[in-house]
Amino acid sequence: MSSIGKVGVLGGGLMGSGIAQVCAQAGFSTIVREISEPFCDRSRAGIEKVLAKGIEKGKVTAEARDAALAKLAFTTDLTALSECDIILEAIAEDLALKNGLWSELDRICGDETIFASNTSSLTIAAMAAASGRPDRMLGLHFFNPVPLMKLVEVVRTITTSDKSAETAFEFVQRLGKEPIQARDSSGFVVNLLLVPYMLDAIRALEGNVATVEDIDKGMQLGAGHPMGPFTLLDFVGLDTCYNIAEIMFNEYREKRYAPPPLLKRMVLAGMYGRKSGKGFYDYSEDPPKVSALGL
Ligand code: CAA
Ligand code: NAD
Repeated sequence: MSSIGKVGVLGGGLMGSGIAQVCAQAGFSTIVREISEPFCDRSRAGIEKVLAKGIEKGKVTAEARDAALAKLAFTTDLTALSECDIILEAIAEDLALKNGLWSELDRICGDETIFASNTSSLTIAAMAAASGRPDRMLGLHFFNPVPLMKLVEVVRTITTSDKSAETAFEFVQRLGKEPIQARDSSGFVVNLLLVPYMLDAIRALEGNVATVEDIDKGMQLGAGHPMGPFTLLDFVGLDTCYNIAEIMFNEYREKRYAPPPLLKRMVLAGMYGRKSGKGFYDYSEDPPKVSALGL
């Protein structure tokens, strides 16, 4: 049996909210730490909305929703995570920010607490030293949208102990997810393949191969993908995609990971995709329309 009872989640954005929801639904007492009260409220409201949709569709009972919400708490106070058995970090893809939190939490949490990062592209080794507990540091990489995507990559770095890896693997199974083991190389398994694909779609657009809609349609109807690459980029978040590409490019120094200029320009313009209301598509309209991109 896993020794995990209480879960701390750092960040209540897209991923943190989904991770907190599945932890609470699996019966774990879960506390989400955000940087401000409005962000705590936004995270709670997002989870309530997904659960309400589940009830509407007959996938979640009102009792299960109430039980999950009763397991969830939100805080802006990092010390409120002191009793947690595992910390799942899902803040912005920025090593300095992540490491700042790990070193603070090392002082706050008990000796047994496992630290797990949901990073998309950083190596776990880059966080192991700052965590002050390199044997209890690993990666648990969930996929978006977390309540639906079955996979979690379990990433051990060279310092991760067998015990921590086994506990984390079993924890993932208790969440009802399918774990796979991945090496601690930037992008692990899925993003090593998926990120260059998404960046290539932007390069195809920059090269006038086809329109946003036709490239999306091409990959949906021609390759059986559930979403085309631009819908997926907007779904993941263009700011996050840009950070991931920069990190992977710096790691591998290969052109296929380099963020295309259009992606950079869109992020500079505050076009973060679905979460900001505008990316390759404009979500202020239903159905969303392709944005003017100055191409
Ligand atoms: N959260 C929770 N549930 C959601 C959701 C969300 N954000 N979006 C949609 N859903 C639910 C819907 O409520 C619906 O539920 P039911 O089946 O119970 O009715 C179900 O998903 C299907 O929704 P739709 O019919 O509206 O849409 P769909 O059939 O197109 O499926 C999808 C939605 C599962 C997201 C599908 O489009 C898909 O698999 N897309 C690809 C997602 C993907 O590739 N994710 C990986 C991103 S990369 C990553 O995560 C790693 C990284 O580090 C960046
Ligand atoms: P997001 O932008 O939706 O949320 C990031 C959260 O980090 C925000 O709620 C913000 O309040 C918090 N944050 C920002 N600065 C902070 C700080 N200094 N201290 C504490 N919290 C801070 O991002 P996201 O999409 O949820 O991504 C979070 C992590 O998950 C990233 O590492 C990302 O690479 C990874 N990830 C993202 C996806 C995806 O599809 N978006 C999938 C898998 C993994």
